[in-house]
This record gives sequence, C-alpha cells and structure tokens, in this order.
Amino acid sequence: MIHFIDTDSMNPPQSVQDMVMRHIDRGENAYEIYCRIGADVDGLWPKSRDLARQIIDQVDEMSYAVTSPLGLGDMPSAARDVLLLALLDKVGLITVHDDDSKVLWEVKSRDGLQGGPRKLTFSEKVGRCPLHSDSAFAYDPEKYLCLYVVKESGDGGGESVVVSMADAIEELRDEQDGETCLRLLRDTIFPFRTPPAFSKRTKTLTAPILSGSSTVRYRYDCIEDGFTDIPELDTDDRRWAVSYFSDFVENRASKHTFLAMRDQLLVVDNRRSLHARTDFRDAGRALIRARLHAPPASVLAGRGTPIHATST
Ligand SMILES: [Fe+2]
Repeated sequence: MIHFIDTDSMNPPQSVQDMVMRHIDRGENAYEIYCRIGADVDGLWPKSRDLARQIIDQVDEMSYAVTSPLGLGDMPSAARDVLLLALLDKVGLITVHDDDSKVLWEVKSRDGLQGGPRKLTFSEKVGRCPLHSDSAFAYDPEKYLCLYVVKESGDGGGESVVVSMADAIEELRDEQDGETCLRLLRDTIFPFRTPPAFSKRTKTLTAPILSGSSTVRYRYDCIEDGFTDIPELDTDDRRWAVSYFSDFVENRASKHTFLAMRDQLLVVDNRRSLHARTDFRDAGRALIRARLHAPPASVLAGRGTPIHATST
C-alpha cells in the first residue's frame, strides 16, 4: 500500500501566489525569478520547509515519497514553477538538466521531433519505460529524482514503478545465479553513453552498476550504446550480467506501483532505487522533472547555504 504525505496544512497560501505573480517577468525563467524573490517566498510559505523535511525523511525510509496534491495545479504555470522550485530547493541542490541549463524539464511526448536528427529519450515519448536510474551516465548521479504531475494520462496508464535496491539485492541473493550476477555488477566496469537529449557532446562513462551497500546506476540503453563505443568492454560476462539483472528486476523483484495524479509530487531516491513507468498512449500526459543532489551535512544541520551544482 502506498502512503501519501498529507500536504493539506502545508500547501502554499494565496498570498504567496499573488506575490509571485507580481514578479513574473517575461524575460526571466522560473529559476531566475525564484533566485530573486526566494526569501520573500519563504517568508510567506514557511510550511514549505516542513513539507520538504517530510519528503526527505520518507525517501530515506522508503526510497520514495508521494505527496497529496500540492495546491499548485490551478496556478499559472510561471507561478507554479517558482513555487515548485521553492519547495525542491529545501529538499536538495537543484541541478541543471542539459546543455541549455534547464532545471525544470517537461516530461512530455515530443512526437513532432520523430524522424529528426537525434534519438528521442524515454521522457520524450509515450509508452512504457523500463526500470532504470536517472543520470546513470553522469560521474555523480543525483540523489533525488522529482516528478510533479501536470496532467496524468487519460487512459489510466503511465503508473510509476519503484524498486528499492536494498530489497532487490536481498531477493537477488536467493536466485540461482544471483550471487554471481551481484559480484559482476559490483566488481566490473560497464560503459554508459550519455544520450543526446542530455548533451550534444557524446561522452561514455565507465563505472560499476552496483557500489556501496545498495547504490545503483543502471540504464540498459545507455549500456548497450556504451558497448558500441568501447567494444573491449562488450564481453560475454558483462552481457550476461546485464541481461540477468534486467530480467530479474523487470520480472521478479518486488515493486511499488502507483498512479500519481494531477498536482501530486513523486520523489525517488535515484541512487538507491530504480524507477519505471507502465505503458500509456495519451500524448497529453505531462510531468515536470527536476533532479537534486543531497545537501552537504552542514546544510542539513541548518548551517551554511546550498551551492547549486551541475549533474554532468
Ligand atoms: Fe527516469
């Protein structure tokens, strides 16, 4: 059963929306506006800090958190984005998404680009997305993946699926060749190619799939492309380990599955879990994605100011 964080007493008051609307400037993006008026937003919406704390605690405990509606859904998109950033900025350090320095990325079908020069990534297409972690190709993948629902799929599809890596590793140990697979995932480097949607400068990073007690980086298509880039890493044992792991997480690992609706926020521990979405066909489905690094311990303890970092 999915536990939702009840946001009723913590949603932004009308006064903060009114104040943000007075500062909307067509020349600035939401992040620039937030940086300019963030202190005023915090003053009018102090409960955003309590909500952020609850999100952090639940992600630590469960590896994901889902809120009830945040009260941003009926706002003009510019005000919604500023207030979403105000909340997320208290959860972690917001990173830029790509070469264009976007911090909020619209997860929406970009069918108009089909047949264009570059391959579309999962967040640009309708349909199922297999289990993976975000920024698997980055040197330091973010701790938090945040997905705010602008509009859910009208066909009831597009459910979110989360697999806790700690649970999956325990379950994998009980599989016939599970220990062999785990050893290869920990002790062998795999190549991860950066998809062109994230950077026009193609880079291929090499790293183990598992590290620490349950830290994971995994994205099947990036590894496939990485094998093309670095053929000496395209070995039978690596192919076997990736295929075995993929079959296990997709078909046998325990999963948390739920349909996040309009105005709800899903936050996933991107380093200790995998996420996916079930099939959907509604091209009008729209989410906003942000990724955050965990703040340094000094910031969590209430000292210092977050430093905004990039992910790649
Ligand atoms: Fe993802």
